[in-house]
Amino acid sequence: MIGNPVDYDKKFKDNNFPIFPPKFDAELKRYINLLPGKEVLDLGIGQGRNSIPLAVSGFNVTGVDYSTKCLDICKNTCDKLNLIQGDIRTFPIDKNKYDLILSRCVLHFFHKNDSYQIINNIKNNLKTNGLVHIHVFSLEDPRYKKHANSPNFEVLDNNILHNVSEDTYVSFFTKEEVLDLFSDFKTIYISQEYSLDQRGDTPCYAGVIKYIGQKI
Ligand SMILES: C[S@@+](CC[C@H](N)C(=O)[O-])C[C@H]1O[C@@H](n2cnc3c(N)ncnc32)[C@H](O)[C@@H]1O
Repeated sequence: MIGNPVDYDKKFKDNNFPIFPPKFDAELKRYINLLPGKEVLDLGIGQGRNSIPLAVSGFNVTGVDYSTKCLDICKNTCDKLNLIQGDIRTFPIDKNKYDLILSRCVLHFFHKNDSYQIINNIKNNLKTNGLVHIHVFSLEDPRYKKHANSPNFEVLDNNILHNVSEDTYVSFFTKEEVLDLFSDFKTIYISQEYSLDQRGDTPCYAGVIKYIGQKI
């Protein structure tokens, strides 16, 4: 493992902790019928954006997150989730248990060596015909240039930025890189989007790559 985990509990004070209500991603909803069974693992479940709608509709969901505040929000919103506090870089994924593994807006918060290792762990342990669903920052995300020009970050190879004082990393991906990482999977859905995120107090542009793949 390289560097510290991004710690939401320390990063956000109680009165500005971001609240992200459950909302089933349209692209995941569209392909949910492809799942061979009902077992779901959410790596970096946050506040249960997709996992709460999945649990409510009868899926058995296990969610892992580093943030106890996020896990408390999940627990208080839905009593059907199996929640585990931990760092997803060391979380052992049970082999051939899960029909769907989600890691949405999490895998960019690492040095790519760690992101790639988590992806390999997902790929090796997902059930055959199971789906993986990820969102990662694209290289077009304006935070890349903003951080790269900031004295707080050092710019490393392969579009990786190192926050020196916190010893955390943030990585930016290309669509080709995501397709290459899942070259042995069947691509069900991939998109690269650039949009204005209006959820917080300060609207900001976000660049994201969304991928759904099936283990064959
Ligand atoms: C932007 S939120 C996304 C949450 C959720 N997946 C969603 O789509 O709404 C990122 C989440 O990743 C979690 N996280 C970041 N690094 C982590 C790590 N090393 N291990 C476990 N969770 C981590 C954070 O605590 C946070 O809840």
